[in-house]
Amino acid sequence: MRLDKYLADMGIGTRSELKKGIRKGNVTVDGSIIKDPGFQVTDTMSVLYCGKPVQYETYSYYMLNKPAGVISATEDQTQKTVIDLITENKRSDLFPVGRLDKDTEGLLLITNDGPLAHKLLSPKHHVNKAYYARINGIVSNQDIKAFQDGLKVDESLTAMPADLTVLHADPDTHTCEVEITIQEGKFHQIKRMFQAIGMEVSYLKRIKFGNLILDPALSPGEYRRLTDNEINTLHTHNI
Ligand code: URA
Repeated sequence: MRLDKYLADMGIGTRSELKKGIRKGNVTVDGSIIKDPGFQVTDTMSVLYCGKPVQYETYSYYMLNKPAGVISATEDQTQKTVIDLITENKRSDLFPVGRLDKDTEGLLLITNDGPLAHKLLSPKHHVNKAYYARINGIVSNQDIKAFQDGLKVDESLTAMPADLTVLHADPDTHTCEVEITIQEGKFHQIKRMFQAIGMEVSYLKRIKFGNLILDPALSPGEYRRLTDNEINTLHTHNI
């Protein structure tokens, strides 16, 4: 791979910035200054940019605790996106795996691994997604059963069976907190499911995606790279 592409892929700068930097002598490969942006780098070579090692990775993986108010897109003219929240040197081909609504918080996987994303999002793989939600209304045992049986949401959606657990119910405010696990990811799915039983979701946060659990140390807007273990479990998920 060309040296300028190697560095650009790893988010060090744009190709044109890097061409200049390389020509200035900012880059060493295996200890020698290389001034040719087209120099071919191989896996075993050690690349330093301004003295700092740059290790190539084919795929990068981040766990973001999405805050409310940002959109699940890669770029937008006017609104802040989840990719804008990744502030370290980042590769240019990152995207969010699936979408959370603008007002939804919680776990969003961000990667450039297209094949994995495809697998995790494919309806035939039934990847569990768990959410914590606050509901205006009190969920009854009948509602839980209806969710379990596969709720008819509207003419265009009959939801697959969903696990619904009431964590806390407050009769005074007529609200409750629930955990709900679904296997689909239809547009506004959870809000529409509660709407179908006459209730409104006032707060929604994703806490699990497949085998991945939202790191409680991440405040809304914070992110971290996945551990090797988390990456492996995502790949070996029984999907
Ligand atoms: N269901 C919704 O209604 N919204 C989300 O963001 C995710 C699931």
